[in-house]
Amino acid sequence: MEKQRTTALPSTEELARQMTYIQKIRQENDKYLAETGHKKKFYSLAMGCQMNAHDSEKLEGMLDEMGYEATTEETEADFIIYNTCCVRENAELKVYGKLGWLKHYKETENPNAMIALCGCMMQQDVVQQTIMKKYRHVDLVFGTFNLYKLPELMCMRMDSDGPVFDIWQEYQEVVEDLPSIRHFSYKASVNIMFGCNNFCSYCIVPYVRGRERSREPEDILQEIRKLVADGVKEIMLLGQNVNSYGKTLEHPISFAELLRKVNEIEGLERIRFMTSHPKDMSDELILAMKACDKVCKYLHLPFQSGSTKILKKMNRHYTKEGYLELVRKVKEAMPDVTLSTDIIVGFPGETEEDFQETLDVIREVKYCTAFTFIYSKRTGTPAAVMEDQVPEEVVKDRFQRMLDVLNPLVHEVTQTQVGKVLPVLVEEVSKNDAGILTGRTEQNTLVHFTGTKDLIGQIIPVKITENKTFYVIGERM
Ligand code: SAH
Ligand code: SF4
Ligand code: F3S
Repeated sequence: MEKQRTTALPSTEELARQMTYIQKIRQENDKYLAETGHKKKFYSLAMGCQMNAHDSEKLEGMLDEMGYEATTEETEADFIIYNTCCVRENAELKVYGKLGWLKHYKETENPNAMIALCGCMMQQDVVQQTIMKKYRHVDLVFGTFNLYKLPELMCMRMDSDGPVFDIWQEYQEVVEDLPSIRHFSYKASVNIMFGCNNFCSYCIVPYVRGRERSREPEDILQEIRKLVADGVKEIMLLGQNVNSYGKTLEHPISFAELLRKVNEIEGLERIRFMTSHPKDMSDELILAMKACDKVCKYLHLPFQSGSTKILKKMNRHYTKEGYLELVRKVKEAMPDVTLSTDIIVGFPGETEEDFQETLDVIREVKYCTAFTFIYSKRTGTPAAVMEDQVPEEVVKDRFQRMLDVLNPLVHEVTQTQVGKVLPVLVEEVSKNDAGILTGRTEQNTLVHFTGTKDLIGQIIPVKITENKTFYVIGERM
C-alpha cells in the first residue's frame, strides 16, 4: 500500500483550502440530514496531554463545521477519531485494544463508519506499518504536523477505495485560526510553542512533535483577546518547555515578557502555563510571575529524579541542588505558591540510593500534586538501550514506597488551605452529585461545594472547610 503525501500552502491560503473541503463534506451531510432528519455523529477521543486535548478541540471544531454532531457514545458514531499519545507504552496498548473493538463494531454494527487515527503515536514508522498490516479497518491516519488537513484527507478517503495515510516528518505551515470547539466556556488553552528541543533521554516527544517553534507574540495575544471577548476568564499557555519561548523568533522575546503582555489583557482574570523546565527557569520569570496579578501562584516544575547522577543520564541539565535552590527562590519570591511536579521511578541505572534522593526532594519541596510515572522504555530514545534496566518488581516496590511518602505530604500542603476564604473559579457540576459544584483556587486546589449551576464560569469566594487530600470541601461565602 502507498502512503499519500499532501503539501501545505501558506497559512491563510491553506485555511481557505481546508474550508472548501469542509463545505464539500457539509453539503453531503446536509443532504443526509434532510433525508434522515438527524445529523451524522462524530466521536472524538483525546488520549494524551493538554496539547493533545487542545489539538482535539481543533479537530472537533472542523467536524462541527462539516455538519457533524458530537456524541459521547462511541457505538452511535459515523466518524470516530482517536488523537493518540505514545509517551508511555500503556498509552499505545490502549489504542491497539480499542482498535480491536472497532473492527468488531465496523463489521457488525456500522460498516460505513469512518475511523481516523492521528497524533503522536502515528508519527512512528513501526506503528504505521502495524496499522497497515493488522488493522485494515482503519480509514485515515495522519500525524501531529498536518492536523489541519483533516477535511482534505476525509475527502481523499471518500474518493478512494482504500485507506489514506498522510504522515509528515516536520512542520510546513502552522495554520492559525482553525475552527475549534472549546469544552469549557470560561477557560481555554492557547499554544505558545510547538515541539521540543530538549531530548531528555527517556522521552519520545521530540521525535514525534518535531523541533521547537514559537508562535509570534502578536498572534498569541490576538487569540487570547478573542477568547476573552468570548467570555474566557482563565487561559493556560501551553508548550513542552515554555521557559524557552521566543528565543528563536525573528524578534526574540522571553517568556517573562510574554507573560507581562498577557497580564495586561483587559477582562482576563487568570493565567496559567505549563510546562516549565527547571534548566530554563530564570530569575526574570520568577519576578514576572510575582509581579503579574493575573498569573496564578502555582508552578508545575517537573524534577523527574532527585539523583544528580540519574538527572545527567536523563539529559536534564540541572542537579538536585540546583533544583532545590530554584524552588527556594520561587518560594521566597511567592510565599503562597504551590508546586506540582512529574516524577519518573525506575530509570535505567537507578539504585536504592538514587531513589532515596528522589524521596528527599519530595520531602523537602512538599508538592500540592505530583504526576508519578513508572519508567517506560520508548524505542528510539537513548535510554531504551542503556544498560541496567531496573527489574519490574523493584520498580513497583519503589513506586509504592514513593506514594507512601508523597500522599501524606500532599495532605499536609492541602491542610494549609483549610480555614481560608479563597476565590474559586467554578468549573462544573460534580459527576457524582448534581447539587455539588467543583472549582479551582488560584493554587489549583480542587474544591467541592454546594451550589447551583448558574455559578459555573464565575469566580466566587469560598471558605475551605475540610481537607480530603486530593481535593477540599468548601462553603460558599
Ligand atoms: N515537556 C514536559 C513533559 C512532557 S511528558 C516536561 O519536560 O516536563 C510528561 C511527563 O511524562 C514527563 O514529565 C515525564 O515525567 C513523563 N515521561 C516522559 N517520558 C516517559 C517515559 N519514557 N517513561 C515514563 N514517564 C515518562
Ligand atoms: Fe520530553 Fe524533556 Fe521535551 Fe519534556 S522537555 S517533552 S520530558 S524531551
Ligand atoms: Fe502529549 Fe503524549 Fe504527544 S504526552 S505530546 S500526546 S506523546
